[in-house]
Amino acid sequence: YEIYLNGMSGAVPRLPTDLTRLEEVTEQRLGPGPVGYVAGSAGDGSTARANRAALERRRIVPRMLRDVHERDLSVEVLGRPLPAPLALAPVGVLSIMHPDAESAAARAAAAQGVPFILSSASSTPMEQVAEAMGDAERWFQLYWPKDPEVARSFLSRAKAAGFTALVVTLDTPLLAWRPRDLDQAYLPFLHGVGTANYFSDPAFQAGLAKPVAEDPNAAVMHFVGVFSDPGKTWPDLAFLRENWDGPIVLKGILHPDDARLAADAGMDGVVVSNHGGRQVAGSVAAADALPRVVEAVGDRLTVLFDSGVRTGDDVFKALALGARAVLVGRPYVYGLGLDGQAGVEHVIRCLLAELDLTLALTGHSTPATIGAADLVEGSA
Ligand code: FNR
Repeated sequence: YEIYLNGMSGAVPRLPTDLTRLEEVTEQRLGPGPVGYVAGSAGDGSTARANRAALERRRIVPRMLRDVHERDLSVEVLGRPLPAPLALAPVGVLSIMHPDAESAAARAAAAQGVPFILSSASSTPMEQVAEAMGDAERWFQLYWPKDPEVARSFLSRAKAAGFTALVVTLDTPLLAWRPRDLDQAYLPFLHGVGTANYFSDPAFQAGLAKPVAEDPNAAVMHFVGVFSDPGKTWPDLAFLRENWDGPIVLKGILHPDDARLAADAGMDGVVVSNHGGRQVAGSVAAADALPRVVEAVGDRLTVLFDSGVRTGDDVFKALALGARAVLVGRPYVYGLGLDGQAGVEHVIRCLLAELDLTLALTGHSTPATIGAADLVEGSA
């Protein structure tokens, strides 16, 4: 009601409350280069469109006359209590959106009690982001470096900086064919954006002939070499188990058999995700993959979800399809671009307020009671 009450004195929100409009508004303000990178997806964009369509096609069937006057959005994820089933997805290179970049987004997450997942490819070193967050919940996303010494060093730095869970992204051993970036020859990494964790890393530096400051181009090329490794296979996960003693979540799982392999490998969770449609054009929509993964491993692993979530009812639908919690990517990145920390907080608050109202209006007072019976497949 805060927004309506403020409206009585003429104060309307600075940013749209319909988060599907943020891309357009951000592009108007920041121009096409950076927004093209954020909005862009693989190939002709079919996977990003399919992500939206798969969520929109599913329709909620509200129930009446259930006592919903008190509601509680909290859930347990990876053995820890969270105030709501929401986390900020790992997104690299945030300095292309705002000079305060990851630190501003992390502070916003901390202020709203939502976990922040820091990307390996952040434009701010992980220790600095950790400092901005105090003791708020944070997870570290690993792009698994080819050089095991760099991988080991990342893991021990993340542990020391208070990151509790490790999110290992498996769908990006190579960057996909992304025409918007190819046509503009725009790749932030080649300008040294998104390399902060690497350039500040002693094991990475040990592989350089000259310090980063003396030969930045060579450092960028070295980064390209160690960034990730298309040669990895399932048995390699043992390395992560040996070097990380907290929960490990595999991000980018779409096939139920891969989810079973994750469980067999002793992982703690998966994120059903197609990277927001940025990796494989023509891929299965994430929301279509989700129920199959939940059926395969829902009793063994924590199943999280992302790709295409834009509204509170999208979060509801993902929970109804079996996700324990949901990650959101682009919307908060646009919020950051438009208004820094306040913009990210705006996005989180809109999503949570809309989710809370959706629960109330569909007859639920906690996420625990949401399930498959709440959805039908419509025609969108
Ligand atoms: C991403 N994503 C991502 N994922 C990851 O594991 N590490 C990363 O560094 C990045 N970087 C990144 C940059 C940009 C600009 C975007 C848009 C996305 C993927 C991200 O974590 C998440 O899977 C998607 O953003 C979810 O889809 P939506 O919410 O953006 O539709």
